[in-house]
Amino acid sequence: MTHAHITTWVIAFILFFVSLSMYKAHSPKAKIAHMVLRLFYLLIIATGAMLLFSLYSISALYIVKAIVGLWVIVAMEMVTVRAKKGERAQSAWIQLVLAFVLVLYLGLKLPLGFHVFS
Ligand code: HEM
Repeated sequence: MTHAHITTWVIAFILFFVSLSMYKAHSPKAKIAHMVLRLFYLLIIATGAMLLFSLYSISALYIVKAIVGLWVIVAMEMVTVRAKKGERAQSAWIQLVLAFVLVLYLGLKLPLGFHVFS
């Protein structure tokens, strides 16, 4: 399940950059890429939830990991919507980078899957 979780967010990041560049190029197909990106948000949440429910007991750090994971998704959506509207997205980008660094650290520190920081 950790591999499925990682696959979904890696694909989501690719779709995120594809959607951004398509919106910036005013491509009419940008909406489709954005819709598929939103589907991948759901898949990230579903695989993350499955990881959570595979645990015998859910510690506080896992709750923090899940909330920061949701924050990454919210920040991605904020950046994309601002690109669609042609607005500045500096605060959303800062949130995205912060939340992403934090979620990587927490995910790789927590016991399931890979252990880079523990
Ligand atoms: C774009 C958003 C997200 C990113 C980039 C992300 C990233 C990661 C990473 C790098 C891992 C470690 C995998 C491993 O050790 O093999 C992980 C594990 C995990 N993620 Fe996420 N995640 C995101 C969203 C979510 C969400 C929304 C949830 C909850 C609904 C969630 C729940 C979990 C759980 C429970 C684990 C297992 C932690 C462990 O013990 O290693 N994640 N995630």
